[in-house]
Order: sequence, then structure tokens, then C-alpha cells
Amino acid sequence: MTTRKIAVLPGDGIGPEIVDQGLKVLKAFEQKFGISFELEEAPIGGAGIDSDGVPLPEQTLKLSQEADAVYLGAVGDYKYDDLDPAIRPEQGLLQIRKALELFANLRPVKAYSALLHASTLKSDIVDGIDIMVVRELTGGLYFGKPKQRTEQAALDTMTYTRPEIERIARKAFEIAMLRNKKVCSVDKANVLLTSQLWRDVVDEVAKDFPAVELSHMYVDNASMQLIRNPKQFDVLLTENTFGDILSDEASMLTGSLGMLASASLGPKHAMYEPSHGSAPKYAGQNKVNPIATIMSMKMLLELTFGMVNEAAQIDEALIQVLADGYRTYDIAEEGAKVIGTSEMGDKIAEALLKLPSPLASSNA
Ligand code: IPM
Ligand code: MG
Repeated sequence: MTTRKIAVLPGDGIGPEIVDQGLKVLKAFEQKFGISFELEEAPIGGAGIDSDGVPLPEQTLKLSQEADAVYLGAVGDYKYDDLDPAIRPEQGLLQIRKALELFANLRPVKAYSALLHASTLKSDIVDGIDIMVVRELTGGLYFGKPKQRTEQAALDTMTYTRPEIERIARKAFEIAMLRNKKVCSVDKANVLLTSQLWRDVVDEVAKDFPAVELSHMYVDNASMQLIRNPKQFDVLLTENTFGDILSDEASMLTGSLGMLASASLGPKHAMYEPSHGSAPKYAGQNKVNPIATIMSMKMLLELTFGMVNEAAQIDEALIQVLADGYRTYDIAEEGAKVIGTSEMGDKIAEALLKLPSPLASSNA
């Protein structure tokens, strides 16, 4: 029997409680489809600093390299704010992304009709949104050298190479081929040299995908267009920092950052985590929305294990729970049934078990 191994890295703040909900849904999934996964947990971020003095302990990295997929909660807590930036919890996340070469970060932004009210935008603007943000994750300002700080000055370096741009662009076009065949590449080519190279390389890669309609947009315009007319976008391709910012903005279109799942893919490894942070002020209160984390588990089952039809049922289960009126506080309207983190996990797991089973995916 093949073993399917998942490295589980709950991290800090709300990390452990949201990861528990994803694992609850995984358990229901195992029961429903008669398969099993091997789970092994390890510390990262503040938890790594507490246990091993570093945000990415060696054992955690080794486990993550050996597993088929990594499932992560979130990192960061106020109590580490005074630490040297080089050993802050966030470094654990950046280091694991780099070490596993997770260059492609996919963040799906989809409007759920039951949640149209939760958006701060008018319903007709958000109804039907289906955007895939494809964010480059291992280059740009986050990793460029030199990186220095003195009393009077600080320096971050924005750098991109042709191969780095080529592989993320290719990924975006491949994804677009499975969707509505549109790529909008976001840059700041009127000012930045890295963006000019970005644009040239994206144009070159586009030649291999004649069926995909490519457009380019400056990042300031893109952030405005996301609010003005988000439905114009299918795949939004962009570099690391712009992608960080635009994906948070895009998530709010559909009501809450708590809905935004993500997959980070590399040539050999894959990691799945919600796009939001560790929200330490909510930790341990059983209050926050676990849906982004649960939907990250859905992406894991779909993209790492190829169980496309089966994983789609997690989406159906979520739609059912939302249709039944259950909400966490961040997406609740007047009169909604507001439930906690753990109850939302229970509801989605229960709904999954009740759905009629689909045909098995041929590639599962
Ligand atoms: C994200 C987060 C991280 C990032 C932080 C926690 C380092 O904001 O995944 O979007 O900036 O990439
Ligand atoms: Mg972010």
C-alpha cells in the first residue's frame, strides 16, 4: 500500500486551532473514501524558536522534505516582536518556502453566493468572481541581497532573473488553460527594471500559449481595478510583494481573508496554508474562521494526491454548510447562526460525510 505522508506544521497563534479543523475534515475524507494518510507534526515559527531556538528547526525541514505535502497553519506572535528580524517567526515561513523551492503560490478567490452580503462591495460587483492569484514566492524584495540596516539607512534589494520569471509565467499560463484562458500580468514596468524584464519574459512565454489572452497591468491600476470591476480577472500573475498585497485585497472581495486558501508549489514539494496570518489576539478563543485552512486541505488533496473529484466534495460540503446559514463571526450577517472555529470544522466534516460519493478520480 502506498503511504501518503503529510507534514503538519501548526505554528503559532490561531495556527493550531485552524489546522485541527483541516485535520478533522481530512479524517472525514479518509473515512468517506476508505484511504488513509500518515501525519507527522513539527514546530515552525515561534513554536520552533521555543523548542529549538530557531524558526525553522532542522528536523522540521527534514520532515517537510520527506513528506508528500506540508500542511501549515500560521506563524508569528507579538511576544517575538523584539527579536532580531533574522530569527523572527516569519523567517521560518520564508526559509521553508525557499528551501522547498515553492516558487508558485496559488490563491483562489471565489465568491460564494451565500456570502455575497459579507463583502464590503455591492453584490452585483462580486457575484461570480473567480480569480486565481498566481504569486511568485521565492524571489523579489523578500529574498534579494543585499539586505541591510544601519541606524540611518536600510536596504532591500528587488531582483528577478529570467528563469525565475519564466517558470512562474509558465505556471500561470498552464493554470489559465484549465480555466477561462486569460492571464493578466501585474507589474510596475513604467518605473522598475525588474518589471520591464518581467514583462518581456511573460510576453515570450505567452507565445507558447496562443489560446490564452494576455494583458499587462500596472500594479496601482490593478489594485484599483480589483475594486472597480473584479470580474474582468481570471488568472492574476504577479511577483512576490505585489502578490502579497493584491491577494489580501482580492480576498476581501469575497468577504473575508479567512476564506483565502493557498497552495505553494515547487518542482518537488508542495505546501498548503491559509493566506492569512496567525492573529495572536484571537488565539485560543475558538472564534476565527477555519475555512481558508480547510480549503487549503482541499487543494492539498487535489493538487498533491490528484483526488480531484473527491476533493471537490469539500467545496460542496462548505457550500451546504453556508446554505444552512452557519457562519463564523467574520462572515456573519444579521440573524446568521454564528458558530466557533471548532463547530465550523465539525459542520463541514459532517456535511462531507453526508454527501453521495462521486466517481473516483482516475489519477487518484
Ligand atoms: C502571506 C504572509 C507572509 C508573506 C508573511 C507572514 C511573511 O503575509 O503569506 O501572504 O508576506 O508572504
Ligand atoms: Mg500576506
